[in-house]
Amino acid sequence: MGTSYSAVGWNRQKRIYDQVIAGCCVLYLVLFVLITVTVNPDCTFETVLLRSTSTLAVFILHVILSIGPLTRLNKKFLPLLYNRRHLGVTMFLLSAVHAVFGILQFHSLGNVNPLVSLFTSNTHYGSIADFPFQSLGFFAFVIFLLMAITSHDFWLHNLTPKTWKTLHMFVYLAYFLVVMHVMLGVIQYETNPVFVVIMISGAFILITLHLIAGMAEVKKDKKAYRPEEEGFVQVCDVRDVEESRAKIFCIAEERIAVYRHENKIYAIHNVCKHQGGPLGEGKILDGCITCPWHGYQYLPHNGQSPPPFTEKVSTYKVKITGNTIWLKPTPDTAGTTQQGAAVPAE
Ligand code: HEM
Ligand code: FES
Repeated sequence: MGTSYSAVGWNRQKRIYDQVIAGCCVLYLVLFVLITVTVNPDCTFETVLLRSTSTLAVFILHVILSIGPLTRLNKKFLPLLYNRRHLGVTMFLLSAVHAVFGILQFHSLGNVNPLVSLFTSNTHYGSIADFPFQSLGFFAFVIFLLMAITSHDFWLHNLTPKTWKTLHMFVYLAYFLVVMHVMLGVIQYETNPVFVVIMISGAFILITLHLIAGMAEVKKDKKAYRPEEEGFVQVCDVRDVEESRAKIFCIAEERIAVYRHENKIYAIHNVCKHQGGPLGEGKILDGCITCPWHGYQYLPHNGQSPPPFTEKVSTYKVKITGNTIWLKPTPDTAGTTQQGAAVPAE
């Protein structure tokens, strides 16, 4: 990672992001309590706590799952990515309050172990109307717990990025379990259809966003590049690449980021060594290509993280004829120094 990982200029932004998350959560919880107490004064403290924290957790879960496709569709959403982990931990803490109070309120007063009671107090596993929906919430909670515990980079290094990523993909299973937990639970204790409508709308929005973003990626990836001169392929016009920014090209199933830095063009592998973030969606800060996800940095001419860091990505040869950028899609070994290609004067 880059030397300025902890001071890439996004730290202030990250602090603001955290404060906004905390402020919005407090506002939501206060409003939820005030509205519930006004509309339904008979509602108990436990129920208000259970419902306020759970609905907020589910809302944040939708936001978290939307961030990926939104940033693929529009770079303006990138700031949301920078602190997605904090959003995830916030969601976990809210769901933990809900889960613990759920267990305390419904399973801790008898003489059976509360966790045993969770699975045995209702055994109508074959019924839809009476399904023990709390068990589904429990399994979703276990997934969120594992994700929250392993959210620190310490675990990323120890588990290896591949295992870490696989574990974090379980968020989609957790989301499905939460949807079923709510749907099967609401049938039993709520006559108002509002929960069902909100959950179905949320799932519909998420699926649509993922489909649109997926189709856009496939379309970009399918563009054919024919090798022309000495194995170089023509990618774009130099004027299409803004200073300190990149364009991403998918050639022979590899994504390559073509960056413009101080009027030279460089190309590096698009995949960040940290968690596979899209380097071409970042920008050059302090002379380094800075990953948009968590700020790992790489020098444009050799794909190496500045000392003392040791990460390296593959680099590619480029050249310019007229205003056309040409790229040799065969990668050079990670960390290989490239001359880059000078952008002609306008
Ligand atoms: C051990 C884990 C869990 C238990 C024991 C549990 C228990 C419950 C109970 C008893 C209800 C009905 C509350 C009521 O009468 O209003 C409920 C509803 C709900 N749960 Fe869970 N839950 C668990 C995990 C989760 C998780 C992980 C989420 C999502 C992040 C979640 C989201 C919801 C939502 C949105 C509702 C409907 C709103 C509400 O009534 O609170 N639950 N849960
Ligand atoms: S910095 Fe985390 S993926 Fe690049």
